[in-house]
Amino acid sequence: MTNGNENFTSELLHWYKQHGRNLPWRNTKDAYAIWLSEIILQQTRIAQGTDYWYRFMERYPDVETLAKATEDEVLRLWQGLGYYSRARNLLKAARQITELGHFPTTAAEISKLKGVGPYTSAAIGSLAFNLPMAAVDGNVYRVLSRYFGINIPINTTEGKHTFQALAQSLLPPNEAGTFNQAMMDFGAIQCTPASPACPQCPLAESCTAYRKGLVGQLPVKLRNLKIRERHFTYLYIRCHGEVAIHRRKKGDIWQGLWEPFLSEAGSALSCNSPAKLIRGNVKHVLTHQVIYADFYLLNMNVKPALPDDYIWIKETDFDSYGKPRLVEKMLQILAED
Ligand code: ADE
Repeated sequence: MTNGNENFTSELLHWYKQHGRNLPWRNTKDAYAIWLSEIILQQTRIAQGTDYWYRFMERYPDVETLAKATEDEVLRLWQGLGYYSRARNLLKAARQITELGHFPTTAAEISKLKGVGPYTSAAIGSLAFNLPMAAVDGNVYRVLSRYFGINIPINTTEGKHTFQALAQSLLPPNEAGTFNQAMMDFGAIQCTPASPACPQCPLAESCTAYRKGLVGQLPVKLRNLKIRERHFTYLYIRCHGEVAIHRRKKGDIWQGLWEPFLSEAGSALSCNSPAKLIRGNVKHVLTHQVIYADFYLLNMNVKPALPDDYIWIKETDFDSYGKPRLVEKMLQILAED
């Protein structure tokens, strides 16, 4: 370790003692509780995720209870968090763990759990078992690229290897968990993406980007994949207090969630359809897709023939089915109508 590196680590840990966040999963060594928090926080902010973490801990206080749940129950409780493959993998991993008989304690075993990639496995390993693993995410890329003035793009193989190795070299022996959480908090509170408070930063003096005026230019990211545009027409078919819904299949977004009748890519319904347009062109943004949706209501006296996978349920029961957020939006608009 060079002096610069030692300085970084000790300043960071010092900052963390003063400014670290008191989060509920940080007051436990229970690997189950830590794993659950890491899965929730993969794509969710703490402000939103904390509520869900409590809900899951209350409903499924241990891995055995979770392993016995149905996928529908878990998806329902996950509703609103998005990225639903996380919920499905959570359940699969809970079953892997109960089959194993204990929570895995080594890096190799932890990373075999469904839904656990390199970041999450390092976070769980370091926090629950004190394994010397650096957890590298967007916060870490930002903090390290700025402090050390590294302009290798973070979304390249070279970038990933460089930052992983650097973070690993900064890890203090026996304090990997503390270091990882300090990085998370420092990136979230102090070294923020836009307008970080550099004049108040204890690391500013030795920060390369700050000294060279490059804070706004780092980290460097190569332009990303194309965003796919999709057009959804949802038809809420109502017949004597019932509604037709179906479950989304594998190989597309929202697998396993339920939705009303959907026609994709087709233009709007024909002008002489008896369906009533409730709201048009609702924009719904996902990571690699943008969906433009039209919501229609169709009141029927006789149930129309629908594809085989549709079922009729009481409208009042729809609440208990796991649904994409876009469908939630539609139901809200319908209720206000
Ligand atoms: N983001 C991912 N894991 C986290 C954790 N343990 N604490 C705070 N933010 C996080």
